[in-house]
Amino acid sequence: MCFGSKSLIFCLLGFMILDGVLHCQASLHRRRFVVREAPYKRLCKTKKILTVNGQFPGPTLYAYHGDTLIVDVYNKGKDNITIHWHGAKQPRFPWSDGPEFITQCPIRPGGKFSQKVIFSSEEGTLWWHAHSDWSRATVHGAMVVYPKPGTGYPFPKPHAEVPIIFAEWWKTDVMKVIKKALRTGGDPNVSDAYTINGQPGDLYPCSKSGTFKLNVDSGKTYLLRMVNAAMNDILFFSIAKHNLTVVGVDGSYTKPFATNYVTIPPGNTLDVLLTANQPPKRHYYMAARAYSSSSIVPFDNTTTTAILQYNGPNYPPSSLPPFMPYLPYYNDTPAAVNFSRRLKSLANKAYPISVPQKVDTQIVSTLAINTFPCPNNSCAGPNGSRFAASMNNISFANPSIDILRAYYNHMKGVFGARFPSFPPLVFNFTGDSLPLALQTPKKGTQVKFLKFSSTVEIVLQGTNLVAAIDHPMHLHGFSFYVVGLGFGNFDKNKDPLKYNLVDPPFLNTIMVPKSGWVAIRFKANNPGVWFMHCHFERHLTWGMDTVFIVRNGKRPNETLLPPPPDLPAC
Ligand code: C2O
Ligand code: CU
Repeated sequence: MCFGSKSLIFCLLGFMILDGVLHCQASLHRRRFVVREAPYKRLCKTKKILTVNGQFPGPTLYAYHGDTLIVDVYNKGKDNITIHWHGAKQPRFPWSDGPEFITQCPIRPGGKFSQKVIFSSEEGTLWWHAHSDWSRATVHGAMVVYPKPGTGYPFPKPHAEVPIIFAEWWKTDVMKVIKKALRTGGDPNVSDAYTINGQPGDLYPCSKSGTFKLNVDSGKTYLLRMVNAAMNDILFFSIAKHNLTVVGVDGSYTKPFATNYVTIPPGNTLDVLLTANQPPKRHYYMAARAYSSSSIVPFDNTTTTAILQYNGPNYPPSSLPPFMPYLPYYNDTPAAVNFSRRLKSLANKAYPISVPQKVDTQIVSTLAINTFPCPNNSCAGPNGSRFAASMNNISFANPSIDILRAYYNHMKGVFGARFPSFPPLVFNFTGDSLPLALQTPKKGTQVKFLKFSSTVEIVLQGTNLVAAIDHPMHLHGFSFYVVGLGFGNFDKNKDPLKYNLVDPPFLNTIMVPKSGWVAIRFKANNPGVWFMHCHFERHLTWGMDTVFIVRNGKRPNETLLPPPPDLPAC
């Protein structure tokens, strides 16, 4: 589709007039992403950040259900980069998926890569972001997938839509933050601010004039397209005196429900309706701050705000301060988890779902924060150790050639096929005082092969090793049904009896609660190499990752497509 003339989009097939706007019919659209540095002033200080096309947050990509976009990514920065299209399943084409050393080698400075973004069943809000080092802190943006022309939303058409993109800001260079953490082995410095659409808001120094303002007409309903692009923090968000109605998550519609706050982990997107139905003369803060459940993990405890104000000649800037919304307290696990539990798929005739009812492949994986010993206890982690993280006790190590290329070309020695289907050590995962010896993981580059079209269940089991905390776990190449969620240790006899196999939400990222577990199911019908990892950037860096390789099916349309000619060299 073409939306306005600002963007470079080529419509190769016909176009049509819809709602008075010019749209192109499902076809191929081209966009240009130039990754480059640009100066931005926040918190009283100017620094150079990495951007796409000079924008922070980056440009929004628009598409219709089922469209394919081509994005020409130019690296005009100083460092290697890759770009990932978070939530686009990329059927049979992991080559464009983006995670560095998993599906491609990075685009080098001066290089270019034309990436395909293939939408299939997704509809709603998704996002794109850098997937190398910590560059996604500023290299990210929204992706909007509209219903096919001629079809509509499963809710009353909103008057307008607004992206609400959360991010995290450091006063120093983000690359320095992670480099230092990796050098010392300690925790990376927490951010100095959160931002809404690139702005910290009124509660931070030098930030008032830039505060994001949402101007609304009284009585109208707006669709907020929320993306949590923050690096290391789950957020609570709320708008003073206004209810929110959640209608979608991760590019999939939900049964609508009203709430006065949302929980949004990094990696998740939410489609939320807001009706402007409050006295129009006052101003209302929209605010977000962290949900952080651990008492020992440092986090940024500041609050970002934007302002909701009503249009109209009679409503001059109010001299009264905006109303402040209610936000759950930082460690309010019940508030965080109850929100997740309310997400349900529509699961009706028009929006059917297909939850695997029987499971071919069962996987149980622990999620753990770990430590590696350092010579003379000289590191900055607990007791002089170095922080690590793992799934099933393997701390994932990036290979130097991407796994997809190695798999496709039958190269030996790049990865192993021994990611365990069950925890190699069984202990009271969520117990209080765990033996220190359990803290040290193994390092490795191990994948798990899945048979084409097999139904897979993965139980993600949180552990209390080093620091019990929530983990927003993300899977590439699929959305999955979240069929179960609980606290403590997963009980394979009792817990499945309580699964929701009727209307579970269809997500690409799920917050595994602190000292708890989550069960997800999906059908492995997308051949290729697909990353799974915690969407807390520091946990991803520390190795809370694994890779699934879905083998080819028998039919020609069930096999991995060949690589694009311009795949970056390793
Ligand atoms: Cu949002 Cu591996 O990505
Ligand atoms: Cu994590």
